[in-house]
Amino acid sequence: MRTCSQIFRGAKTLNEAKSTKFLLNLQIANTTTENMIKQIAEHRSHRRFSDRPVPEHIMRDVLTAATRASNTGNMQVYSIVVTTDSEIRKKLEPCHFSQPAAKAPAIITFCADVRRFSRWCRLRGATPEYDNFVWFLNAATDAILASQNLALEAESHGLGICYLGTTLYNAPEISAILRLPEGVIPVTTVAVGYPEPPTDAASEVPLTDRLPLEAVVHDDVYRDPSDADIERFWASRESSEETAALLAANGLPNLARIFTERRYKGDDNRAFSRKYFDEMVKKGFFNN
Ligand SMILES: Cc1cc2nc3c(=O)[nH]c(=O)nc-3n(C[C@H](O)[C@H](O)[C@H](O)COP(=O)(O)O)c2cc1C
Repeated sequence: MRTCSQIFRGAKTLNEAKSTKFLLNLQIANTTTENMIKQIAEHRSHRRFSDRPVPEHIMRDVLTAATRASNTGNMQVYSIVVTTDSEIRKKLEPCHFSQPAAKAPAIITFCADVRRFSRWCRLRGATPEYDNFVWFLNAATDAILASQNLALEAESHGLGICYLGTTLYNAPEISAILRLPEGVIPVTTVAVGYPEPPTDAASEVPLTDRLPLEAVVHDDVYRDPSDADIERFWASRESSEETAALLAANGLPNLARIFTERRYKGDDNRAFSRKYFDEMVKKGFFNN
């Protein structure tokens, strides 16, 4: 691929230069697209960050990208709370079970928010009726799409990101710290910062694997996989060195039981579900 100046130097006439410029724009677009695809393919969650703050102009770009996401009716029924204040981040840490990523210099909480839109409606004499479950889902979808746009833009600036699913487990506590009023509930958090540079090959963040495409994609209609299909989908991950180490460390016979008995246990799932549901009711998302 030729560089920009090589292409310009080759142009002899104005028209040629103009079409060169067009080609150049195309080439820049292609390069940008290539970079974006490469960046998506190489995504990995970072959980350890340096103290270096995210510069304001970069944070602005990242947040602007977040707001460019598709959203319900272009109503933008979400809010983004960017917490960089160290005292408030300290208060949030236990809500995220003090996991390493929760120490990032920027903790960005994405909230379903029907409040701002409903207030605008009332100011205009319109009657908003968005205090129900389907609007929780619309608003949560908006918030989550914005969060992924933010994640991609952040990575394009060399920042590292990690989602914090603990947001759903401790939504009331997070709501209290971030002063989220009625109509506003947190749905996810993205920890953002410059990744701590690896000190050796072992501390480099590995690229995680994924199930094969055929496991998650269905042609035309949903096809329930056979047991043999499911065995095949998981075979690679089950036979990895990482899984062997996990099983040894946990004294369990298979990877599925790591999930059900260690990572996401039934009692916890039920307790966190009830807690989040109560918060949804309290925040006025369940007037069905
Ligand atoms: C909704 C959601 C919640 C997550 N919660 C956490 C979390 O609480 N802590 C964490 O370290 N990683 C969390 N992650 C990151 C996942 O563990 C990670 O994306 C997955 O293991 C795949 O690894 P990768 O992102 O490096 O490709 C979460 C990701 C998502 C999408």
